[in-house]
Amino acid sequence: MTDQLPRDVDRYLEGLFTPLDPALEHALAASDAGGLPAIAVSPTQGKFLHLLARMAGARRILELGTLGGYSTIWLARALPPDGRLVSLELSAHHAEVARGNLRAAGVGERCEVIVGPALASLASLETLRTRGAAPFDFVFIDADKGNYPAYLTGCLALARPGTVIVADNVVRRGAVLDAASPDANVQGARAFNAQLAADARLDATVLQLVGTKGHDGMAIAIVRA
Ligand code: SAH
Ligand code: DHB
Ligand code: MG
Repeated sequence: MTDQLPRDVDRYLEGLFTPLDPALEHALAASDAGGLPAIAVSPTQGKFLHLLARMAGARRILELGTLGGYSTIWLARALPPDGRLVSLELSAHHAEVARGNLRAAGVGERCEVIVGPALASLASLETLRTRGAAPFDFVFIDADKGNYPAYLTGCLALARPGTVIVADNVVRRGAVLDAASPDANVQGARAFNAQLAADARLDATVLQLVGTKGHDGMAIAIVRA
């Protein structure tokens, strides 16, 4: 990354708003030791997700893409004591590392990591929903980008009016501008953004982000009444 300034600014903001936190540091170190890629949200992004979930008054949170549980810890800390978080993860190894990190952070009791393709897990959750399970108040989509359009559809079936939906990595260093991109991640982000904009059930926008993760963006949406 040639652009150092956004990184320096992120460090400055981290110094102000995300002081070193042993549980979060442990989650990143254990993820690294377990061979997981270093692609968790940044500290200021984690804090942002945490604040959004609290602002939404979330009692039930759904996450797609657990990795080592870094974003999961930020989100779980937004829950009231009796709140629940369900996180969907394809990799059994990632899930195992994440469960250890969630326990170490003291939020293991309120979190459940479900292993498998998120689309299959969403289908199971939808069955539970039709049998009377409560909807989710807050959703964070951060798994494989090619499936984002299908994830949005699946998550809407688990939502209620007022549910907040956030999705990571929808700008991809500007690669979303390329309609002819052969990259499935780019095509997934493009289709997701278009669907988010067009779905009459949603009010949404996308914010570009710069910082320690380079140039990307997060989508934010609310399900209409
Ligand atoms: N939310 C995490 C980062 C997630 S990285 C954080 O910010 O801390 C994306 C994760 O999605 C990886 O762990 C990857 O294994 C997982 N993933 C990839 N394909 C998936 C699929 N089909 N279903 C569920 N998870 C998937
Ligand atoms: C990458 C970044 C992410 O935030 C993510 O969820 C997946 C991959 C990356 O930089 O490769
Ligand atoms: Mg991400």
